[in-house]
Amino acid sequence: MRELYSAEDIATTVQRLGAEISADYPAGNVLLIGVLKGSFIFIADLIRAIAVPTVVDFVSLASYGSDTASSGIVEFRKDLDMSITDRDVVIIEDIIDSGRTLETLCHLLQQRRPRSLKVCTLLDKHARREVPIAADYVGFSIDNGFVVGYGLDMDERYRNLGTICLLPQS
Ligand code: IMP
Ligand code: MG
Repeated sequence: MRELYSAEDIATTVQRLGAEISADYPAGNVLLIGVLKGSFIFIADLIRAIAVPTVVDFVSLASYGSDTASSGIVEFRKDLDMSITDRDVVIIEDIIDSGRTLETLCHLLQQRRPRSLKVCTLLDKHARREVPIAADYVGFSIDNGFVVGYGLDMDERYRNLGTICLLPQS
């Protein structure tokens, strides 16, 4: 495994994202929606980097496909606890790859009529996008390759790494 981002790199980036979100919602009352499981460490750090009043909720999605590619067929394994109607919502993702998971989630959430809906992702594999969707807040842009650590897994392993690492290609 090769380290792509150190714990320090990640902390600096999370502070920047927190400052961007704080600046965009000066009145606060932002609802962060963490997409489990991959975003759990990211959102834990990010929420402490946001200086305005913020609430948090989580969704868990079941997406069907192979281990390293998603089919875009997505359903809730765990839905939100809260209503998002008339709220300012920011989806917090670990990584966007094809974009299919996020596209489906945005579509499902738009039907509930939030006041606004934005997306923050720690990592963006923009070159692999299969649907036209972009994040409003991006931590790191990366090329091809499978990354793990800081919440991201490969078959549930490596989530506990404090760094983000590139797995060797198999
Ligand atoms: P998409 O629907 O192709 O954008 O898939 C996004 C989801 O696939 C992410 O939320 C991750 O759960 C998973 N994923 C995609 N690429 C990686 C990676 O490099 N490492 C770990 N998980 C990944
Ligand atoms: Mg994810």
